Amino acid sequence: MSDVLDIDHLTVTLPGGNRPKPVLNGVSLSIAEGEAVGLVGESGSGKSMTVRAIVRLLPPGARVEGGIRVRGVDAGALRGAALRELRASVPVIFQDPRAHINPVRTVGDFLTEALRVHRRLSRRAAEERAVRVLDEVGVADARRRLRQYPHELSGGLLQRAMIAAALLAEPRLLLADEPTTALDVTTQAEVMAVLDELRRERGLAMLFITHDLELAAAVCDRTAVMYAGRIMEVQASASLHEQPLHPYTAALAAARPSLERRAERLATVPGRPLSAFEAPDGCAFGPRCAHVRESCRERRPELRTVVDGQVACVRAEELRAVSHD
Ligand SMILES: Nc1ncnc2c1ncn2[C@@H]1O[C@H](COP(=O)(O)OP(=O)(O)O)[C@@H](O)[C@H]1O
Ligand SMILES: [Mg+2]
Repeated sequence: MSDVLDIDHLTVTLPGGNRPKPVLNGVSLSIAEGEAVGLVGESGSGKSMTVRAIVRLLPPGARVEGGIRVRGVDAGALRGAALRELRASVPVIFQDPRAHINPVRTVGDFLTEALRVHRRLSRRAAEERAVRVLDEVGVADARRRLRQYPHELSGGLLQRAMIAAALLAEPRLLLADEPTTALDVTTQAEVMAVLDELRRERGLAMLFITHDLELAAAVCDRTAVMYAGRIMEVQASASLHEQPLHPYTAALAAARPSLERRAERLATVPGRPLSAFEAPDGCAFGPRCAHVRESCRERRPELRTVVDGQVACVRAEELRAVSHD
């Protein structure tokens, strides 16, 4: 299967006060056509930066190394109209929809603009399309909603409108950055169900960011675990839960709350999470790892294939053997 997204040793460095601040450090991750991949990690680990790097919406002065290919096209080389086209074809659903919608324009204008400007549909035809998609995402009374302004819609409805806008672009790849985190629990479940169902129906690939390991497992084929701007492990979601390869994932899984009590934040692991710029030489998780050895401090472990997954831990096989005794 071909990849819709291929991130290869991506490093992003932001300008800092005295010295440049790395926020992503050698991130490699690929997503196949139609595949959903979860990206899980504690706050500050670099999940949103990964999304922003893909659509090239990084803070000013950011230095990017490594490659990002979207459906085979080198995204890093795009400029002007080609870059705008990339952004239009890879929609992002953000945690806070209100920060990403113009408050003084109607929901209808927001939904139909791209159809009218880029696809050259008439206003009427564009509105028909918008109504159909709003129906699909479970927005009742869609025609009336088109005339309303963002502040007249609840957070849940607005996020559904965002999903509708994303689907109207007929993308092959969708980026969702904690799309339900800001919603109340009931609404979270409903919005998540809509997103999951429509994605599957359309065979859409998705990068799904969450701090909820259980949720990632429920909606994603594979899950990647991020720590301090690096990928620590990637595995099929089911086996990641049952047989984590990295001590960090194991610690997260062990600390995970029950399904009944859905996490407000990612389960806590003893110690404080580090951002990439604070990470020591060697393994970034070393200072918090129960299995750390001198060798872990010497060299940074590369992501490598172990069993059916990938892991960045030199002791992965050894620890696996112990846990299987
Ligand atoms: N605009 C910015 N300027 C400088 N540093 C930033 C900016 N946005 C995020 N960071 C830093 O980049 C790192 C990764 O942030 P982010 O990708 O937002 O984390 P996550 O989404 O996993 O919580 C953090 O250390 C954060 O403080
Ligand atoms: Mg984030």
